[in-house]
Amino acid sequence: MRVLSGIQPSGRLHIGNYFGMMRPMIVSMMENELYAFVVDLHALTSVHDGSRLAADSLGAAIDFMALGLDPERCVFWIQSDVPEVTELAWILSTITPLGLLERCHSYKDKIARGIAASHGLFSYPVLMAADILLYQAERVPIGNDQKQHLEVARDIANKFNHAFGHTFVLPEPAIDTGLAVVPGLDGQKMSKSYGNTIPIFADEKELKKQVMAIVTDSTPVADPKDPDKCNLYNIFKLFAPADRLADVRNLYVNGGAMYGKIKLELLEFLWDYFRPARARREQLRANPTQVRDILRRGALKAREKATPTLNRVREQVGLKY
Ligand code: ADP
Ligand code: TRP
Repeated sequence: MRVLSGIQPSGRLHIGNYFGMMRPMIVSMMENELYAFVVDLHALTSVHDGSRLAADSLGAAIDFMALGLDPERCVFWIQSDVPEVTELAWILSTITPLGLLERCHSYKDKIARGIAASHGLFSYPVLMAADILLYQAERVPIGNDQKQHLEVARDIANKFNHAFGHTFVLPEPAIDTGLAVVPGLDGQKMSKSYGNTIPIFADEKELKKQVMAIVTDSTPVADPKDPDKCNLYNIFKLFAPADRLADVRNLYVNGGAMYGKIKLELLEFLWDYFRPARARREQLRANPTQVRDILRRGALKAREKATPTLNRVREQVGLKY
């Protein structure tokens, strides 16, 4: 199965990103043909600081590799290193009905959050469709918020196939409904827009501050509590070994769970969990030239896959004379 997904190089990665998106991609690398990329062209719709975007794009690629994405076992690149995608986006934009884009919630939400209403922001889903269709992706792992964008990609593919003959595979979304949303410090969905995150690569001091800030209720220690309704427990269970988790669950159910103690334990588990990734990240950050080489090689592989599709599209629409 050809699996493809992109990540935005914006903000620091948190454990919600890891469990919701990065880990499933890393796991799927073993048995699929995986295409993964950092979407710097998409980030341009909200970041207008060149040196920051460049640093964040490289940083996001490093973090992803440090967490286990192996560029030898998948195709991994930076979106803008494959210029074919912008050509396809333009061609697709000429058959995309305006109404399709006008209906997109994400555009409206972003404007409501204060992002400037540019043409790029409006046509964001067309570039995303080009990302997916250019590589003939069959499955696209995404969060719920991207579901509508995937439907737009499918609509555009269908329209093109009807107008010019069968060209694009219709991509299927892969939304892992089994995976609960990782709660943030305050119990809402963990999200950088809510400022309630536990960053994966925070230093020990910051990590402690965040873990201690996890909101818990004020019922007495001896009272029984429902672990599944407790924010702290729902984060703890992502990191604790099975036997310790069972003990803590018992403390909740029978009384005796001390939040402060559980937080300190969580801190230790968290720190250990990402220890190997931290070490790999340091190594990669010390060798940016090597990372750039890996990414450029990835882009070459991606272009090899993209070129036959784009050639076909050019021929079909009449850009070959
Ligand atoms: P944020 O909400 O912090 O801005 P993004 O929207 O950039 O995160 O999400 C990037 C990826 O991480 C998406 O695939 C999204 O589904 C996933 N993700 C983000 N937050 C969570 C969470 N709290 N639980 C599970 N997955 C998440
Ligand atoms: N829009 C996606 C997001 O914000 C990122 C993205 C861009 C993407 N192109 C993609 C995701 C192609 C999957 C496939 O998270």
